[in-house]
Amino acid sequence: MRKPSFLMVCCALTLTLVGCNTSEQPETEQPVDEPTVSEQEPTTPPEESPTESTEEEQVNEEPAEEPPVETPEEEAPPIELVPTEPIERDGQANLALDTLVLVNKQIALPSTYKPGDLVTPNIDFVDSATGDRRMLRQEAATAVEALMKDAKAAGIDLKGTSAFRSYEYQVQLFNSYVARDGKEQAMKYSAPPGHSEHQTGLAIDISSASVGYQLTQGLEQTKEGKWLADNAHTYGFIVRYQRAYEAETGYMYEPWHLRYIGVEHATNVREMNVPFEQYLEQLMD
Ligand code: DAL
Ligand code: ZN
Repeated sequence: MRKPSFLMVCCALTLTLVGCNTSEQPETEQPVDEPTVSEQEPTTPPEESPTESTEEEQVNEEPAEEPPVETPEEEAPPIELVPTEPIERDGQANLALDTLVLVNKQIALPSTYKPGDLVTPNIDFVDSATGDRRMLRQEAATAVEALMKDAKAAGIDLKGTSAFRSYEYQVQLFNSYVARDGKEQAMKYSAPPGHSEHQTGLAIDISSASVGYQLTQGLEQTKEGKWLADNAHTYGFIVRYQRAYEAETGYMYEPWHLRYIGVEHATNVREMNVPFEQYLEQLMD
């Protein structure tokens, strides 16, 4: 398989620091069942650019009357695809990575972190998803709107089930799973508070009518699940927790959990078929 060039890869990563907002509202999501995992939001507790290539301007230069003074050709600065930023610091996520921020079992967000640009995408959600659990960061929201619109046009019936989750909501959710299934089992499908990608505002769980909008691995077998797996990257999303990555991510396969990282990176991750962790490491090399 062709390995994409990383120089091509990251043409335009713009790093922006995302503002934190400490005023969060409680939330809701869904738990999982058995090995045929279905992460459902408990009802009682809580539930669950293309880079703009800098086009060189074509200047139609008039012939200069005088020969131009020869100045040494200025070297264009290298394109900064990759942030010169560490992936993490002492187990804390590096928010300067913006839409490439890495959050996993080892790397956490501050408990006070809430993205400053959360908006509610204009897509269908299941009724149990309410309030800020429908929100995503602006860029991810725009992307999921396009995904859902095209899915609908292709006869693919999808709904969002859970998007942003505050730290406090994840506390309730995770604790409810631990109470139900025990910590060891819960850890296979639910992130401890601070360790959920949902807190980044860049992750959304999506399911389909054909599986009753449940978060179940059965989604994989449906035409909707297949459509998601085949097309999500073209909108900038990766299916973050793949079956083949279970050992590395520590989570069961979640065909419903989409993480926004932008079209170019998502396309690369899919082509390389590696966990996001490994992709970032290679990107930073
Ligand atoms: N279900 C994923 C791992 C989460 O809780 O963020
Ligand atoms: Zn999820």
